[in-house]
Amino acid sequence: MVVTKKSRRKGIRTALRCIEAGFSLAHNALYERIKKHEPRSTNKISLTWHSAKNFSVSDDRGNRWIDLTSGIFVANAGHANPKIKQAILKQLNANLLFAYNYPTHSKEQFEAALLRRSPKHLNTIALLNSGSEAMELAYKLIKVYGKRTGKKYIVTFKGNYHGRGLSNDIISGNKEKAGWSGVKDDRVVFLDFPYNPETHFNPEKLPPAKKIAGFIIETFQGWGAWFYPRTFINTLAKFAKKNGALVCFDEMQAGFYRLGPLYGYQTYGAMKPDILALGKGISSSLPIAGILARGALFNTTARADLYGTHSGNPVSCAAALASLEFLSSSKEIARRKKTIPLFERELKSLEKFPQIKCVNVRGLVAGIIFKETAEATEVVLECIRRGVLPVCTNRESIKIGPPLTITASAIREAIGVIREILSERSQSSS
Ligand SMILES: Cc1ncc(COP(=O)(O)O)c(C=O)c1O
Repeated sequence: MVVTKKSRRKGIRTALRCIEAGFSLAHNALYERIKKHEPRSTNKISLTWHSAKNFSVSDDRGNRWIDLTSGIFVANAGHANPKIKQAILKQLNANLLFAYNYPTHSKEQFEAALLRRSPKHLNTIALLNSGSEAMELAYKLIKVYGKRTGKKYIVTFKGNYHGRGLSNDIISGNKEKAGWSGVKDDRVVFLDFPYNPETHFNPEKLPPAKKIAGFIIETFQGWGAWFYPRTFINTLAKFAKKNGALVCFDEMQAGFYRLGPLYGYQTYGAMKPDILALGKGISSSLPIAGILARGALFNTTARADLYGTHSGNPVSCAAALASLEFLSSSKEIARRKKTIPLFERELKSLEKFPQIKCVNVRGLVAGIIFKETAEATEVVLECIRRGVLPVCTNRESIKIGPPLTITASAIREAIGVIREILSERSQSSS
């Protein structure tokens, strides 16, 4: 369906999208009320989420969007997945909504199911509440390992993101990111991110090999879905192994089948990371995160303080188990075998537009890299006006990460809308 200015005034109605006539993001009383009592960093897109089902999001006026965000890479199994709802209800009806870190059946079942599907050497799991907390623990485990083995450096990448806490800021972005705190960790070394696919891993830029405690790697760089060259990561992993340095992948956005396999690092080839940080799509719904690692790394003499008040909440664990079982089912695996190649093809086809520098895509995530930030933001806003919801990065990119349950026809329709907008805008500016 081609949406002209005229049809937009009339509204949009397809089987998957519904936008009322005259829809505008400019007037949202709920958004204005929330803005009054929340800090500035609140979501800048004033779209009310009233309900979300599978790969659709609806507001409180009956408008409906094809969701290309999964919330923010959470709803891998689809929003309000019936199996997950059922598991949550069952747990609620069992009258166990919280259990501190006492043993619960719910936690045991989820942990056992995840370990069964994970590489054997990653035999221990600590459950937490958020990705930031998981990365805080990853930092701690690498530090403690380094102390024990006389290795002092952590190597990370410029521009990568690992959460919001102080230790997260110390390993994210660049050396200045934690500057607000006055706290410095001179033992964290930032490497340039290898945006150029020809880049080779160069140990000469690193501190002495035997002094490196670990590498922290965001499986892909979030804002633009930038992947490392495969040989780069494989050489890094071999180098780390040879020199006794740990390899930690931050799988927050890449995990739980987003890139195809269960864990995103597996798309780089056969390697054995020491630590995986998990969150977001782990439950497709309620807050839960975790660290999966070799058991020996948790055997610290230091009091690592691995658990918090809500770690391994039984309702979150029930949701996580249902999500994992759903996404691992042969039916869903077969669906993704069909949708992933289509998604990759559709996204790559956008590279022909003059506003676009390149499109990064793997599995069901993509970063459309624009020449200008303003153009990327305008395209996001126009997508929303036409019933498609991508991730607004406030940078020179648009990010696309639909629930993994999205159908082939929804992929075609949603990317078709983006294509239509890019085409109109490139014609009107030429
Ligand atoms: C790669 C990565 N690491 C860590 C985090 C932090 O996770 P959370 O927001 O759950 O604390 C995020 C969140 O966006 C992320 O994308």
